[in-house]
Amino acid sequence: MVEKTRAARDSFWWGAATASYQIEGSPLADGSGSCIWHEFSHTPGNTYRGDTGDHAADHYHRWAEDVALMRVLGLNAYRFSIRWPRILPEGQGEVNQAGLDFYDRLLDALLEARIEPFVTLFHWDLPAALQHRGGWCNRDSAQWFAEYTEVVAARLGDRIRWWITLNEPFVVATEGHLLGHHAPGVRNAFAAARAVHNQLRAHIAADQVLRSTSPAAKVGLALHNAWVEPASDSEADILASRVAHAWHNFPLFLDPLVFGRYPAEVEDLLLSHLPQGYEADLDAMRCPPDFAGLNYYFSYMVRRDEDSWTGFAPLEEEGGPRTSMGWPIRPEGLGRLLDAAHRRYGLDCLLVTENGAAFEDALEEDAVHDPERVSYLEAHIQEVLKAAQSGLPVKGYFVWSFLDNFEWARGYSQRFGLVYVDYETQRRILKDSGWWYSAFVREQLEEAFTKMRAFGS
Ligand code: FCB
Repeated sequence: MVEKTRAARDSFWWGAATASYQIEGSPLADGSGSCIWHEFSHTPGNTYRGDTGDHAADHYHRWAEDVALMRVLGLNAYRFSIRWPRILPEGQGEVNQAGLDFYDRLLDALLEARIEPFVTLFHWDLPAALQHRGGWCNRDSAQWFAEYTEVVAARLGDRIRWWITLNEPFVVATEGHLLGHHAPGVRNAFAAARAVHNQLRAHIAADQVLRSTSPAAKVGLALHNAWVEPASDSEADILASRVAHAWHNFPLFLDPLVFGRYPAEVEDLLLSHLPQGYEADLDAMRCPPDFAGLNYYFSYMVRRDEDSWTGFAPLEEEGGPRTSMGWPIRPEGLGRLLDAAHRRYGLDCLLVTENGAAFEDALEEDAVHDPERVSYLEAHIQEVLKAAQSGLPVKGYFVWSFLDNFEWARGYSQRFGLVYVDYETQRRILKDSGWWYSAFVREQLEEAFTKMRAFGS
């Protein structure tokens, strides 16, 4: 019976996601080193109203209450990230045991609550000390990441089955190194290309470490995606949309890992900006992940644009429903994306590692009524269920986000949580969407259990 309950519980992961710098606060506590987001947000002009992650949702102190809330929600999985400089304050070398202790306690509490941890090793808070040595532009970054992975796996690996090495390396490369809107705030096409290439090398180095230290572990990465459609049926727009898809979405990272080469559509953009000799790395890049984590929020239309560096531009669209980030709401894009990833690679497991929406939430006494978020989640989850029913190997779905948090350059102006955070008091209030998700997840897990009992499996 216990076995069956466990199997039913594990048949699909219904979770929520967060990231260390966005929720923890106390970025320098107990021996932790600084990170690029600390430096970036403390530099005037970089974030909305000068917001920083200094306090965030104070998860560093309130983690036990937060795990209790996940239990109330009935989640069977939780995706969170480890703050690299909490573990290695200088990025390399001396280990800060207090940092490891924090995640050690969190993991134990999750397992005790029967919530499966999905652990991201890098969700953008690169140690500042490593940035000052070139960060992702330095070839050694792959080795730094492997060393960090080794330290984490040695202490915590006995309790982690699912590893996500990197979160959205595309966004790190473009927002962080090409456009400069995110840390480290660089605007340089050559730096962006190196960041792509070295993050791939880092993923592979970490993958090797995890396969030798935790042979049963599942290793993958979480990739940024926006479904793209051509703005017209002209050949130029169709071609532009192919480039946009290969550049913005999973092909940029999964093609090298599965096929050992960058997608042909982005060769012009990328290869001429890579340092000489990059070809020598390509053979070693073929290293298919156990799963692909797809993050999805919106879709957009693309047209050919000779003046843009990439050769394409998003079509300015009028109207249609949008979130408070200004992102168009298009649930069908998620289904199309899952289908496209499955056709291209045939991996055994696809996970939706992030999906969710920001709206202007208002706290009314002890409630937050957020019907738009409920509809958003409902419509996107329908796409996931349809994909799974049609035979695609989709095995999990994570709402972004469990808690309201620090939305990078947009600071605290955007709320994505299932749980509202009153930043003045740090009080947590379950939003209507949280209650809705909770009822939905319980129903799904109950159904899985009933089916398992009926088939006697
Ligand atoms: C994704 C990030 C995540 C969060 C959401 C809204 O690109 O991975 O940290 O900020 O967007």
